Amino acid sequence: MAESDTCRLLGFPDGFLWGVATAAPQIEGGLDLDGRGESIWDRFARRGGVAGGLGALEACDHYRRWEEDVAHLADLGVGAYRFSVAWPRVFPTGGGRPDRRGLDFYRRLVDALVKRAVRPAVTLYHWDLPQALQDRGGWANRDTAYRFCDYAATLFRHLGADVPLWMTHNEPFVVAYLGHVTGEHAPGLRRPWLFARVAHHLLVSHGLAVRAFRQLAPAGSRIGITLFLWPQQPASDRPADVAAARRADAAVNRWFLDALLKGDYPADVRRYLARRLAGPPVRPGDAELIAEPIDFLGVQYYSRVVHRADPWNLFQGSRQLPPAGPTTAMGWEIYPEGLYEVLTRIHRDYGPVPLYVTECGAAFDDRPAADGRVHDPQRVAYLRDHLVQLHRALTAGVDVRGLFVWSLMDNLEWHHGLDRRFGLLYVDFDHGRRRIPKASFAWFREVVRQNAVAMPGPAGGGEDE
Ligand code: FCB
Repeated sequence: MAESDTCRLLGFPDGFLWGVATAAPQIEGGLDLDGRGESIWDRFARRGGVAGGLGALEACDHYRRWEEDVAHLADLGVGAYRFSVAWPRVFPTGGGRPDRRGLDFYRRLVDALVKRAVRPAVTLYHWDLPQALQDRGGWANRDTAYRFCDYAATLFRHLGADVPLWMTHNEPFVVAYLGHVTGEHAPGLRRPWLFARVAHHLLVSHGLAVRAFRQLAPAGSRIGITLFLWPQQPASDRPADVAAARRADAAVNRWFLDALLKGDYPADVRRYLARRLAGPPVRPGDAELIAEPIDFLGVQYYSRVVHRADPWNLFQGSRQLPPAGPTTAMGWEIYPEGLYEVLTRIHRDYGPVPLYVTECGAAFDDRPAADGRVHDPQRVAYLRDHLVQLHRALTAGVDVRGLFVWSLMDNLEWHHGLDRRFGLLYVDFDHGRRRIPKASFAWFREVVRQNAVAMPGPAGGGEDE
């Protein structure tokens, strides 16, 4: 892991796992194929919650074009591919008997990846709850946690041995907050008092799945969860702003980190939520269940949030300031140091849990140039600057085992629809969904090949090769 003066290469440890990530509802399409059931995102799109409507959910048509996408992965040379399984393909109505066709799709995908030495890293829940379960209360109903455990166990039995990395949930904070407080995500509810309840059931379902995994999964496979971990910072050192940022940090970050890694919710936010909204419906044994030891934690980092105290905000008593510096097409501030802050913070406050950065990436307004190629120097700079911060964290002794770029390809960015382009592959949604490798694709291929990042400068090479 040496930094060479001559070629200005920032080297990563041997065995560092380089990957890219996607999620089923963002790429698969094929909504009516092979018996897939309705998901909460289908219903949400039908009701106008997604820019571009239901048609946008056809996304990258990956369900039909998966072999082409696997070929791109092999070309990229990554050691791992993180994707999610669509629960409504495996259990179209949320329970009962699994649908063989859904299981077979993921079996074929896993086999093709293994054949090309790309390790599958599977997320079980990346936000596409079967609508039938939502009709029975969704994550606000504790029963959904047990249905999730059955679904997880089915996948462990079916694919267990060939999937070295399993993730129960993707960013439970986002499910609880955007899905149930702001209503920007499916199921589109604006019921802030459900936050703690939904978050708790998601974590209970995680604990149940981890226990099932320990019984079922073969040696060699590991299990964890991925968390949305953005620093929440005060706008000033005024005590009210500092308190607001601390509260936001407790709700966004510590709520999940403490429950999973310390075995309890933070007392401050618990009191706060209980007073203003509603606390989590904790039953005896839940704390231990949620804190069931995991093998790794997935860190998902894109930006930070700066808070100004605002007593009128019911949820956290603060409002978010607009970013001061440059932003991505999401309007998210580009703040690479935050990745270092998050990684070192987990190490400092929660001990030596193995970490993977399971998502990191940026949306920009990419477009093919006259030469037909897609030049995306901003994405290259974004990724490089974040890798530098990851490297700093490694040097500081943090146990980071790998990084997955979000995303392999442009895809459905949830309610925003198809025009927030995060991919290393450009997807031409208007013309047959053709994939065009962007300049960042070639750049990342070099990172993977060299297990190192070339730094700009006389000997570092350009970023738009
Ligand atoms: C994360 C999500 C992922 C993607 C990126 C941009 O919060 O996990 O699906 O939408 O944001």
